[in-house]
Amino acid sequence: MQNARTMLRHANPAGIGEKEPARSFVHVLADTSDKLAGVCSIVEERFAVAGERLDAEARLTRVPAAIVIRADLRDIDNIAAIKKRARDLAKAGKRIFLLEHSSHVGVSQAYALGATLVLPGTINRSRLLAALSDPADSVSSSGTAHSDNAVEAAATAIASMFTAVTLGQPLDIDGTKAAGRQIADRITERGLSEWLTTVRRHHEGTYQHCLLVTGVAIDFGLSLGVGRADLERLYSAAMFHDVGKARIPLAILDKPGRLDAEERALIETHPAEGYEFLKGHNVSPEILDAVRHHHEYLDGSGYPDGLCAESIGDIVRILTISDIFAALIEHRHYKPTMPRTEAYDVLCGMNGKLEKALVHSFKQVALTR
Ligand SMILES: [Fe+2]
Ligand SMILES: [Fe+2]
Repeated sequence: MQNARTMLRHANPAGIGEKEPARSFVHVLADTSDKLAGVCSIVEERFAVAGERLDAEARLTRVPAAIVIRADLRDIDNIAAIKKRARDLAKAGKRIFLLEHSSHVGVSQAYALGATLVLPGTINRSRLLAALSDPADSVSSSGTAHSDNAVEAAATAIASMFTAVTLGQPLDIDGTKAAGRQIADRITERGLSEWLTTVRRHHEGTYQHCLLVTGVAIDFGLSLGVGRADLERLYSAAMFHDVGKARIPLAILDKPGRLDAEERALIETHPAEGYEFLKGHNVSPEILDAVRHHHEYLDGSGYPDGLCAESIGDIVRILTISDIFAALIEHRHYKPTMPRTEAYDVLCGMNGKLEKALVHSFKQVALTR
């Protein structure tokens, strides 16, 4: 084990002679000196950086715009060291975890530790700098960044759900529903557009998708004037709908570009997998039905059961439209984000698959809310 140490680079440019515009301050944490030096050398291209080994005494003296962590999350000492800094971490608007081992458990663990973005695999320099440079920080007038409670609570709920499925542990059904309720409150208060923007800024991949679908489904439900009980069914179904993806390797879920037939067949197991897992829990039949059937189409061309119109309930129909729309507008770093108008046109072009009247009602959600 190497000696604990900290390093400070360009963290305080005042008095260093040449005047340059103040650069945002980024704090880097890593579990080895090599990793620390590697990450710092990238970040310092554009930011003032202070680096610290996780096994050093925590000495964060000023609030950074972002914290970047590169550590093996399979090591419990690293987890403990990150938890010890939880209060300081929460002050930074961005908490980017660079994961060496891409797995659902690793990604879930990072979100449970407060990540706002997880970048798995080999460090991608331009991707990291782009994430750090995103100007849309939530920084208050006092200069103190604040974490976004509804987004982070929901991401944490989804993270613990994926961990539970991966490890075969019981799900926290009530906690997940409570997070869905928080999203509903937030959207009632601030509208759908704000939710979509915030979620796309903070998260990627399956987590982002689940958060987007839940937000879209809630706003769709609100626009249709559904009652409180149906709204609860809707956001619960949306939170749970893709939980079966916890059984699919990240390499396939996050693969840029087209999937081959074998990969597609594997992906298509997720509604039934999610249903089987949730069946053992205290989840209502309507929610189970929505999880199993959110990829069914009215013309019988969907999966896993090839259901036709009369067998597909209202909650499922609403969820399916929300799911497709959210998938189209999600933000992926390797492709441009589809505008909402274009995504709505795709839904309109799915003749015979979706309920026409519902797609028509969805127009104001898709375009104006
Ligand atoms: Fe799905
Ligand atoms: Fe989905």
